[in-house]
Amino acid sequence: VASTIAAAEPADTNYDEKKVPPYELPKLLIDKASQSVGRSEWDSHRRTEILHLFEESVYGKTPKRQLSVRYEVIDSDANAFNGRATRKQIAAFFGEKQYRIDILLYIPNKSKGPVPAFLGMNFYGNHTVHSDPKIIQREKKKARGSFSKRWQAELIIDHGYALATIHRDQVAPDNYRNGFTDGIHPLFYTNGQKKPKPDEWGSIGAWAWSLSRVLDYLETNKQINASHVAVIGHSRLGKTALWAGAQDTRFAMVISNNSGCGGAALYRRCYGERIHHIMKKVSYWFCTNHRQYQKREHELPVDQHMLLALIAPRPLYVASATADRWADPKGEFLAAKHASPVYDLFDTSSLSGHEMPKPDQPIHSTIGYHLRTGKHDMTADDWRQYIKFANRFLKQE
Ligand code: GCU
Repeated sequence: VASTIAAAEPADTNYDEKKVPPYELPKLLIDKASQSVGRSEWDSHRRTEILHLFEESVYGKTPKRQLSVRYEVIDSDANAFNGRATRKQIAAFFGEKQYRIDILLYIPNKSKGPVPAFLGMNFYGNHTVHSDPKIIQREKKKARGSFSKRWQAELIIDHGYALATIHRDQVAPDNYRNGFTDGIHPLFYTNGQKKPKPDEWGSIGAWAWSLSRVLDYLETNKQINASHVAVIGHSRLGKTALWAGAQDTRFAMVISNNSGCGGAALYRRCYGERIHHIMKKVSYWFCTNHRQYQKREHELPVDQHMLLALIAPRPLYVASATADRWADPKGEFLAAKHASPVYDLFDTSSLSGHEMPKPDQPIHSTIGYHLRTGKHDMTADDWRQYIKFANRFLKQE
């Protein structure tokens, strides 16, 4: 199919497989000392080496310092969704400045005992996730329930899962207007610091941090089985879910929906969105060090198969969409496939031996993959696959 570049896309975008440069991926199972890595070396040091490479060259370091936190349950109502769910809204206040993040949580009523959960960040506010009029609306840009299709809250509840969500802009506003003087970044600055250092976290790092903080809260809630939480995200928030799951092994499952460049897609394919494109618009998502790899993908010490391998042996789902060429579906599949050797070390099923499936033919090994027909979005069809996949791994006996 001849490639046409959409008006909004940069003129140098490559959509031609023949123009994908020959590339060699950095080796997952050879360590910095050039020694080959088996299961015990993976556990003892290789995993940590790779995590550090991502901190230094892609997302930046997440501060280790723990902030004090206080949770305030603002709302608890067992009559949500016509009595099928309990809605809870919890304000979490962090540090001395009592920085506030609002957690929206739906818990299915019919399940006995602690339930597994999906946790994801939303783009435009908790009130956009469902038309439920009781959801606290803290900002006005988008209407109530305007992203309910993307969230499928009732489908999730009816399958026995809780859903927890927070709003990205409440954690780190998704623009660089205030240059990291707002959101949570300043809570971690050392004396006189005004912005992150070159190897310190950008927005994706901050967003990922906040997902771990929601997991902290879920661990305190007896209705939730916090050891069965899937972290999920779409697009930039899919990049975020991957980075959260890579750093925080308490997440039992990780789901990347159309995460593309800086997410599940292999950088070295240089297909669709590339580092220099993403740097032009939203460099602040990454650490400053990441800028040096613009048009120099081959010099990166990592590629995204290594990010996905950091999830192993936990179940991982990577999903693409046919019309989402900007996110490079094939590059997303290949990263998942090339992460497989680490899953194989753990004797979990992987994508080794699989070729990229046709549209709408999901593969559910311990790594799940599908290419949904349609555009860049997270839909009911995607969710049906995620629930089916989660049923295998997160449902209690
Ligand atoms: C832009 C950006 C992508 C990102 C997407 C999104 O298209 O270039 O990298 O994934 O926005 O978050 O919707």
